[in-house]
Amino acid sequence: MKKHNFNAGPAILPKSVLREASRSILDLHHSGLSVLEISHRSKAFESILEETKSLVKELLNLSDDFEVLFLTGGASTQFFMIPMNFLAEHETACYTDTGTWAKKAIKEASTFGNVSVVASSADQNYSHIPKNLKFPKGSKYLHITSNNTIYGTEVFKWPKTDLPLVCDMSSDIMSRPIPSEKFSLIYAGAQKNIGPAGMTMVIIRKSFLEEAMVRDRKIATMLDYRTHVKEGSMYNTPPVFPIYVSMLTMRWIKAQGGLVAMERRAKRRANMLYREIDENPMFQGTVAKEDRSRMNVCFLAATPQAEAMLSELCAANGIEGLKGHRSVGGFRASMYNAMEMGSVQLLVNLMKEVAAKLG
Ligand SMILES: Cc1ncc(COP(=O)(O)O)c(C=O)c1O
Repeated sequence: MKKHNFNAGPAILPKSVLREASRSILDLHHSGLSVLEISHRSKAFESILEETKSLVKELLNLSDDFEVLFLTGGASTQFFMIPMNFLAEHETACYTDTGTWAKKAIKEASTFGNVSVVASSADQNYSHIPKNLKFPKGSKYLHITSNNTIYGTEVFKWPKTDLPLVCDMSSDIMSRPIPSEKFSLIYAGAQKNIGPAGMTMVIIRKSFLEEAMVRDRKIATMLDYRTHVKEGSMYNTPPVFPIYVSMLTMRWIKAQGGLVAMERRAKRRANMLYREIDENPMFQGTVAKEDRSRMNVCFLAATPQAEAMLSELCAANGIEGLKGHRSVGGFRASMYNAMEMGSVQLLVNLMKEVAAKLG
């Protein structure tokens, strides 16, 4: 049975990408070698890395002021690498506390310097994005999470600030155009909108790297951004296969019409599902309307019977990964770039069926 993959990550990838990746696992471009076997120093990988980098720059509209790195260790490694490189003990960095991942970033940063939590929605179970931020004078940078995967909120108005803006874009990168000139550092695990788990994309503004690096801290070579910039993401063996699949996905995104097309589709999917949540008496959303994520749609059932019935219908119809995170409960529909409208329509039909039977 065809499965409809609503997993939060690792997550759905375009079928054509999976087909090409599986061909390349057996034989990359008729080279007689699998993409899993090639040397990271080979010409074949050199060209994969170059194309991946140039697709990132083209799709995100990055100027030559930015370096693009492909690292390992997940977005979670960036939680500590950023303050390790940019926050001295006597300095203060601003963080918004908008969910589980932001909280983890805050915890790591506090081990290196001072953290000012400039806004938090923790007291309302992270059901909205706090606005009107104020920053202590002389702060080093502002860290935000653009999409809160677990709670289903997304930033649609970028904060107004003169501080260097650092953003965890793990769960909405490449789902919409971004004003790249506003950012000093962007990072994202690949495993939602771009590729399989195992690669973290880091985009750093060159001047931020030159001017903001801490001066009096010894940093292990592997954890120093300058190492990876100098060695072009090849200081150690890079995650060859995740980079390769990410390149295929970005080729697919480009062929579909780029991030403008991705955003249009994301809006259509989200509008369709949120409309049903608002109209169907058996379900309700968990998030303030203006902050509703297009990537992760969280909703609750009105009764335990409705919850059980939707879960059963989903299982019977090949819908995977809809169970909500334990911190929110209910359901979470993760709808990344490769999610087709047909899958959303199916989910909406099942929700209607629940209402027809129980309403
Ligand atoms: C917004 C966000 N940040 C960070 C992470 C952690 O990523 P990783 O597991 O790659 O360390 C996740 C994982 O889901 C996430 O959604």
